[in-house]
Amino acid sequence: MKPRRSNLSVPGHMKKMHIKANDCKADVIMLDLEDSVPIAEKFNAREQVIESLLSLNWKTKTVTVRINALDTPFAYRDLLEVVENAGHVVDSIVIPKVNNPGDVFFADRILNGIEMNKNISMMIGIEASIETAEGLMRAAEIVQASGRIKTLVFGIADYSASIGARLVSISGHGEKEEELYPGHRWHFALSRMVMNAKAYGNLAIDAPYGNFNDLDGLRRSAVMACALGCDGKWAIHPSQIDVINEVFTPSPQDIALAAKVIEANSLAKAEGRGAIAVEGRMVDQATVRLATQLWEQAKHLQLI
Ligand code: COA
Ligand code: MG
Repeated sequence: MKPRRSNLSVPGHMKKMHIKANDCKADVIMLDLEDSVPIAEKFNAREQVIESLLSLNWKTKTVTVRINALDTPFAYRDLLEVVENAGHVVDSIVIPKVNNPGDVFFADRILNGIEMNKNISMMIGIEASIETAEGLMRAAEIVQASGRIKTLVFGIADYSASIGARLVSISGHGEKEEELYPGHRWHFALSRMVMNAKAYGNLAIDAPYGNFNDLDGLRRSAVMACALGCDGKWAIHPSQIDVINEVFTPSPQDIALAAKVIEANSLAKAEGRGAIAVEGRMVDQATVRLATQLWEQAKHLQLI
């Protein structure tokens, strides 16, 4: 799968921002029909997203579209109109506030029909947004509901509202954590989502960091998400892309170490050994799997 380190959310009704987003270095551009679009602009946003999908040259970018939540009057038309008119350009549909596998089935069936009707040869993916207590509880069922699921993404603001966490400013995790909770308030939610995503071979994407002027806070937040197994992070402003890409790109040192581990492992195998020492540390088969995973990522990003 193509890298999804940085996922820039762009309001669906703001054409100027679509052009700007296409010029920035985000791996994924998400054209948003949901919460960045006011009710009065919902119709225009849908039309604009279709127009931008068809008229801009997205080059190597992965383009996704976030539809409105399925309990609104907008969602079903978002799916029908965007996918019927421009489905061949859309990598994945992002479904907000996924609560249960039925939400995924619903989108999956509609996508089946449109793909057949419009002769869309590639399978459009689904990114399920885990941002409610029920969604997190049922993440394992959600991720198995359709072969279209590629990613789970954590929606921190709605999740906070859903559990009553009183996140007044929605900047995201990493901000003021020390004052609020001794430890990490989001550890459980994020880890649970990551575990469910990875159990079925999907990617896990972290929530955005709202304070786009605070690049140190963004870095802290991204480093932590990376440490918990996330493959990328949403962004809400182009200024955030470089930091996110950097954090989620394996460093040259990591790549060199991974190469050593993989090489040492082949030698060890030839000698009939499982565990070996590399640079004074024990390397066993679990370490080799980690090194191989990092190596694969580096290959995807054409770093090697
Ligand atoms: N995508 C593309 N371009 C963006 C952008 C985005 N998400 N956010 C800002 N820009 C552009 C602006 O249009 C502006 O372009 P210009 O210099 O050509 O005029 C430039 O980047 C600088 O923007 P800035 O003035 O710093 O920000 P702003 O005050 O215009 O907007 C936000 C701030 C937060 C309202 C805006 O970044 C935004 O709408 N982000 C997306 C929100 C979203 O999608 N939320 C839902 C998902 S959580
Ligand atoms: Mg949300």
